[in-house]
Amino acid sequence: MRVLGIETSCDETAIAVYDGKQGLLSHVLYSQIALHAQYGGVVPELASRDHIRKTLPLIQQALKEANCTADSIDAVAYTAGPGLAGALLVGAAIGRSLAFAWGKPALAVHHMEGHLLAPMLEANAPAFPFIALLVSGGHTQLVKVDGIGLYELLGESVDDAAGEAFDKTAKLMGLDYPGGPLLAKLATQGDAKKYKFPRPMTDRPGLDFSFSGLKTAAANVIASEGNSPQVQADIAASFQQAVVDTLVFKCRRALQETGLKRLVVAGGVSANQSLREQLEQLLKSLKGEVYYPRKEFCTDNGAMIAYAGYQRLKAGQQQDLTIGVTPRWPMTQLPPL
Ligand code: KG4
Ligand code: ZN
Repeated sequence: MRVLGIETSCDETAIAVYDGKQGLLSHVLYSQIALHAQYGGVVPELASRDHIRKTLPLIQQALKEANCTADSIDAVAYTAGPGLAGALLVGAAIGRSLAFAWGKPALAVHHMEGHLLAPMLEANAPAFPFIALLVSGGHTQLVKVDGIGLYELLGESVDDAAGEAFDKTAKLMGLDYPGGPLLAKLATQGDAKKYKFPRPMTDRPGLDFSFSGLKTAAANVIASEGNSPQVQADIAASFQQAVVDTLVFKCRRALQETGLKRLVVAGGVSANQSLREQLEQLLKSLKGEVYYPRKEFCTDNGAMIAYAGYQRLKAGQQQDLTIGVTPRWPMTQLPPL
């Protein structure tokens, strides 16, 4: 079975073709970063309009690169949420209509389930059950995963997501959008012990997170110390260490409380090298294993949507003829396979 995947939930138009026997046949991506950079963040209306321009040409390119024609596609999967309503609607309208025109099933895929399953595209795929740390621009969640669609939310951010905290702190430092990767790069030149940032909510029980206070802490340092290159690098390193420490602390607690030894880390922030290294150390000390997607599949991509769609198609699920999106969509509402 071969599935075309369409991702348009935010500022990337991404398309992929996944084949159940041959694996990933192609994946292409167009990033809107340059379009939004001048505004310092994603402008939803501009994002939607750009998805309209890019989605069909990218589908043609993905089919060409996969060396296949439309009739060899068995289903069309598209991100139906969570995300920006207008942006999601572009992918949903195109995906649902294409499937109808081709006489094939359509699958409305949950974006975070896509992220969660992305490590399954790698040679060393994790077995169920495992703990998943989902860290993106919109979500920070710890989930116990017993199988596809069997999700128990253990904890999540009560305010900003980890990626959002990276981006907001980077913006305060005057870095371009999206600031997360730029801040991480700056951090390699800074002293992580220079400034004392809080490790929010590590002093109380539970697995929830809170990251909104960290940007205030960064703003205070900038106000008192200025924004010289060295101060910037030291803030970046100290801030990143605070986020990583907090995430590692809660992952350890989730693993200990559930007795599980496998950790999956996915979503844009899982591309962060420091987080990867420190989680690897944690799992080594617990005699367990940590699993990531390859770096290009940590951030938004079409491959994870095609793969999640393939899994649900294989289980006999499909979307009715409605063109609908769910901008807010708890992952725990998904049906099990
Ligand atoms: O998963 P993603 O591409 O989109 C959402 O679904 O939100 O995640 C994007 C987020 C952004 O906040 C971005 O700054 C962050 O991931 N990010 C990083 C790194 N690469 C991407 N944050 C820290 N370090 C990185 N290397
Ligand atoms: Zn994402």
